[in-house]
Amino acid sequence: MTATEHPAAATDGGGPAIGAWAWFDGSVVPIGQAQVSIATHTFNYGTAVFEGIRAYRQADGSAAILFALEHYERLLRNARLLRANVAGSAQDLVQITVDLLRRNAHESDVYIRPLVYKSAHSIRVQLSGLEDRVAIFTMPLGDYLPTGGIRVTVSGWQRVSDNAIPARGKIAGSYVNAAFAAEDAHVAGYDDALLLTADGHLAEASAANVFVVTDGELTTPPLTDDVLGGITRRAIIQVARDAGYPVVERRIDRSELYLADEVFLTGTGVQVAPIASIDDRPVGSPAFPVALDIQQRYFAAVRGTDARYAHWLTPIKETHDR
Ligand SMILES: Cc1ncc(COP(=O)(O)O)c(C=O)c1O
Repeated sequence: MTATEHPAAATDGGGPAIGAWAWFDGSVVPIGQAQVSIATHTFNYGTAVFEGIRAYRQADGSAAILFALEHYERLLRNARLLRANVAGSAQDLVQITVDLLRRNAHESDVYIRPLVYKSAHSIRVQLSGLEDRVAIFTMPLGDYLPTGGIRVTVSGWQRVSDNAIPARGKIAGSYVNAAFAAEDAHVAGYDDALLLTADGHLAEASAANVFVVTDGELTTPPLTDDVLGGITRRAIIQVARDAGYPVVERRIDRSELYLADEVFLTGTGVQVAPIASIDDRPVGSPAFPVALDIQQRYFAAVRGTDARYAHWLTPIKETHDR
């Protein structure tokens, strides 16, 4: 590839540089050409489903996408909630992403953002009869939240309920709910917020699932308590059980948070992030022995140093024609 074929990377308005190439309207284009009209349905109403995927530098210097197929399978399943029609399979989208990452040739860990969105120019408040498209962009990303102990608060905002906007759908518009909670937490000096269901049980953080550790047992809210069925959540349940920790999915009361030995967040973005305090009450075990043990095991898996989890990773064989 020549220099002229490699357009300048864009930024997200203060964030890291977005990869120079994007998947847009059925082909790879320079990021500057991946633009939508202000009349686009999704821009007006939040009618998209999306994913957040990571690619990690491996211990041997290569790169690999974590849970690539699982993320695209979830994306295509959730697209059905929006009555969106997507040409191509999850496997096709994995291949498109591998090709895009080769082209963008990021040198660090990467975040991948695919969307299925209503591309029609329409103000009609409905779902069917509107054209759907897939877009994918990539960007470098280190830790989304500190992984050495964060301060969180229980939000006054309720998690959006399954009968309002299903949390399991990863629907773009529902992230206004998450942004309300995260914003108020940040303004009050916290790193993130935990949201409760309409009937007051623990749901999840603004963009992560939650685990509570008490007497060596891990608990996490069930998928029926208005949480996203996190791919990391499932992976952590597996890692924890492989390490001999009992894991239970059950409803969790707010007060259990304040009494727990440890609480930690999981997600593609946050990875495994131990919580140091909740509403300024320090957690019971401030050295987070369980969370850090699980974090270490997770990082070994995603960096390719634990062969038991090698099937989680899709290698990207990078070309050297930048
Ligand atoms: C609201 C919410 N919950 C949980 C998660 C974690 O899901 P996953 O592990 O699939 O990234 C995310 C995304 O990272 C999210 O946005």
